[in-house]
Amino acid sequence: MYLFTGDAPVREFAAAFPQPARLGLRLGGRFFLHEYPYREAYLLDRARQFRAALRLPLILLGGITTVETMELAMAEGFAFVALARALLREPDLVRRMEADRSVRSLCVHCNRCMPTIYRGTHCVLAERP
Ligand SMILES: Cc1cc2nc3c(=O)[nH]c(=O)nc-3n(C[C@H](O)[C@H](O)[C@H](O)COP(=O)(O)O)c2cc1C
Ligand code: SF4
Repeated sequence: MYLFTGDAPVREFAAAFPQPARLGLRLGGRFFLHEYPYREAYLLDRARQFRAALRLPLILLGGITTVETMELAMAEGFAFVALARALLREPDLVRRMEADRSVRSLCVHCNRCMPTIYRGTHCVLAERP
């Protein structure tokens, strides 16, 4: 959860497994699925240390959901940004941002997409084709 930040969806994770693992995860899931508060660009402080120490091109990842954050990453010397949940939530997000730079991601960092990796990765809030 440290890599993600946001909610720890213990109940949904448990539901992805057969019994008795399901019951075990429901009872004990909180012990290994810790919650870390979400904030925009939550890995930036740590990434800056790599940026300062390395000469190779770097990609900033983690909680990038606005054009402003993307521009900040470029200004700080990152070659690219990577988006995971924001694009899972809205595959056309970048196109919408191109048309209107005030657009923000609709991802709410609930992390309920994580347990869907066992049955077809998707955002639980997004419409599926
Ligand atoms: C549903 C889902 C599956 C993921 N699977 C992997 C994976 O298999 N390997 C990996 O290194 N990261 C995986 N990630 C982590 C993402 O690559 C990314 O590091 C993380 O979601 C933080 O970026 P974000 O804030 O843009 O979502 C996954 C993320 C999500 C939401
Ligand atoms: S399920 Fe959707 S809204 Fe929730 S974290 Fe995943 S992509 Fe974001």
